[in-house]
Amino acid sequence: MESIRVFCPASVANVSCGFDVLGFCLGPIGDEMVVHKSQQKGIRITKIEGQNLPTDPLKNVAGVAAQALIDEHPVSYGFDIEIYKNIKPGSGIGSSAASAAGAVFAINELIGKPYNRHELVQFAMAGEKLASGSAHADNLAPVLLGGFTLVRCNDTLDIITLPSPKDLYASLLHPKIELKTAHARAILKEHITLKQGIQQWGNLGAFVSALYTEDYELLSRAMVDKVIEPARAMLIPEFESIRETALKAGALGSGISGSGPSIYALSKGKTQAQKVSQAMLNATRNLAIDVDIHLSPINQKGITILETK
Ligand code: HSE
Repeated sequence: MESIRVFCPASVANVSCGFDVLGFCLGPIGDEMVVHKSQQKGIRITKIEGQNLPTDPLKNVAGVAAQALIDEHPVSYGFDIEIYKNIKPGSGIGSSAASAAGAVFAINELIGKPYNRHELVQFAMAGEKLASGSAHADNLAPVLLGGFTLVRCNDTLDIITLPSPKDLYASLLHPKIELKTAHARAILKEHITLKQGIQQWGNLGAFVSALYTEDYELLSRAMVDKVIEPARAMLIPEFESIRETALKAGALGSGISGSGPSIYALSKGKTQAQKVSQAMLNATRNLAIDVDIHLSPINQKGITILETK
């Protein structure tokens, strides 16, 4: 194989009750990446379309992640990377994770697949660290593994893939402002109270149980975040009213997607999700900011190969 084209999906991290540990993979929204083998050793970013991002591989999450992989598994040739970005950086749906995961996945295929998808997370983490200043795998894990994932430990990368109830659909409202993850993390307090901890682990445990049992009512009750969201809500115009609107329209739950500014909602059934998406969009009518709305099933596959040569 001399070159590969891959689809790198967007993802939703945190999912309200699982800050830095829970995430799921989105379907139709994502980037494409083409990676060619080259006689010249090392990593080069030869093209970026769709967004204005650095082509210096040391400053680009895809370049840094790719380098981490070939540092561990040296080869006698190099790689030219083309990135076609559809996911806006700073939108809260895993733009850096898509790029970092895409690069390591594609190169792994070109070098004969020495690593499985779980093992690739460690290399992609180098890219995530560059993007947000701290390494967390809650976007990378669902992008590489598909579906819902739980990161039991971000240090050892003990990652569990969770089942996805088949009727679950996500609505994603993206207000077109950039919110850097590093900034959205910098405003968080170092400590939480015991009461907040108890609420959060109760909800996270219940959410995971609900995925296994397809208990949509329990899932709905568990989609609560009294720890992170109250601090970040002020960064997102009309967050509370958009979230309330989604719930009134019948969403199971709604919250900040990753570190924002995108707002996600989960619904049971596609028709219900369409209703929720429309209501969320209507709630932004008086907002002086452009928005996008997307509807997506839970993407069970994660990154996929589109073409090889
Ligand atoms: N868990 C991360 C956060 C996701 O909320 O900061 C964004 O990278």
